[in-house]
Amino acid sequence: MQLRPFTGTYLIDPALVWRELLNAPQDAHFADDLGLWLISRHEHVRRAFADAATFGNALTLAPVYQMCPEALAVVMRLDVPPTTAAADSPVHTRTRRALRATFANTGPRVADQYGPIVRRRVDELVAGIAARRGAVVDLVGEFAALLPLLVVVDILGVPERDVPRIRSWADGQIGLIWGRPEPAEQVRLAQGLLDFWRYCQGLVARRMTEGAAGDDFVSRALRHRGGDDAVLTPAEIASMAFNLLVAGHETTAGLLAHGLDQALSVPGRWSDLAARPEAVPAFLEEVLRFAPAIDGWLRVTLRPLTIGGVTIPAGARCLLLIGAANRDPAAFADPDRFDPTRAGGRGHLSFGYGPHFCIGATLAHLEARIALVRLAEAMPELRLASGHQSRFKPNLAFRAHRTLLVTQPRSSQRT
Ligand code: HEM
Repeated sequence: MQLRPFTGTYLIDPALVWRELLNAPQDAHFADDLGLWLISRHEHVRRAFADAATFGNALTLAPVYQMCPEALAVVMRLDVPPTTAAADSPVHTRTRRALRATFANTGPRVADQYGPIVRRRVDELVAGIAARRGAVVDLVGEFAALLPLLVVVDILGVPERDVPRIRSWADGQIGLIWGRPEPAEQVRLAQGLLDFWRYCQGLVARRMTEGAAGDDFVSRALRHRGGDDAVLTPAEIASMAFNLLVAGHETTAGLLAHGLDQALSVPGRWSDLAARPEAVPAFLEEVLRFAPAIDGWLRVTLRPLTIGGVTIPAGARCLLLIGAANRDPAAFADPDRFDPTRAGGRGHLSFGYGPHFCIGATLAHLEARIALVRLAEAMPELRLASGHQSRFKPNLAFRAHRTLLVTQPRSSQRT
């Protein structure tokens, strides 16, 4: 079969394709337009995420198409050591341990260390948007995609003046790996990726000369390393920063944009959330299930396996269709209905599952909750601008709105 993820139905509403896959008798499908095996049922996707002995991560961040030779030549100069998302055990175990020690990922630690950063950044952005009543504002560019980036640069101790280039490098990386850029564009994006990597190496080198005494992630990781390459090398710290700067913002940006879209496109829902902020966490959980920011994630088989009656050979790249798994009727009742009061919505696989489970899930929850509550509180009459139409960037993994145009009537002044 062919998935055709970059055009047509899949780009507009991939759930229609996921439904066909879930209704088909076979448990795995080979997409010959991509050279990837598709796994879609909740039970199988969860098992694949959990089974690191069968499903490896070495090619998780490798492009899903044959790059042109010029772009490949640039990419070959990227000497990024694999850490976390691109690593298998024992490197994964070691780098994941380092990340857990240096990057807050439990409720109390996240609230304590990152809560003040998130609230400050949300308040700045909300005040800027509230000051422009009557105007059409793009909530993707000015809020959803910006907030998580500002938060992650604060956590990493990166200067705010570098935000525009980090944004463009990160967008470029996602397009280069999981998109289908033309050859000239591949070369441009690959060059950006190399610049981005050099930037992260420079960040680590600077912190090392400064003595790594700060509260930022890179300094913490250097202290955790304690000068011992067996714990973590400086290049591995740069690799972790490189990954966090992308993973930490493009994903939460997606969650915020999907959440705002769901909240604003159904009459009464936004004002209801404004009036009942306690309903926001369950609403966000349903957004994560229904419209995951990452709807497909790659693994490579380390040995042959049989799913249902289908045998997948060793060395095969597999796309774990998180979006489809989250719509599997075997796991969720009436799965194509967006139900913000759904019980058991937490069984979704939007943050993965098992040993690679997203380290930033708690931060993403905190950020999205504070962002939505404060925006709704400050602008309960916000609405989609007339004529706004959702359009998405063509991508195999990240489902991202291009824009979200909104207005707030001038008359509804609130302080
Ligand atoms: C809504 C927001 C987010 C979504 C949907 C998301 C989704 C995911 C997914 C699907 C994975 C792969 C899990 C697996 O292979 O089992 C992952 C891994 C990861 N995420 Fe997130 N993520 C989000 C936010 C964040 C944030 C805010 C950060 C950090 C600032 C982050 C950092 C990471 C890292 C480092 C990994 C690799 C973990 C490992 O391989 O051990 N993510 N995320």
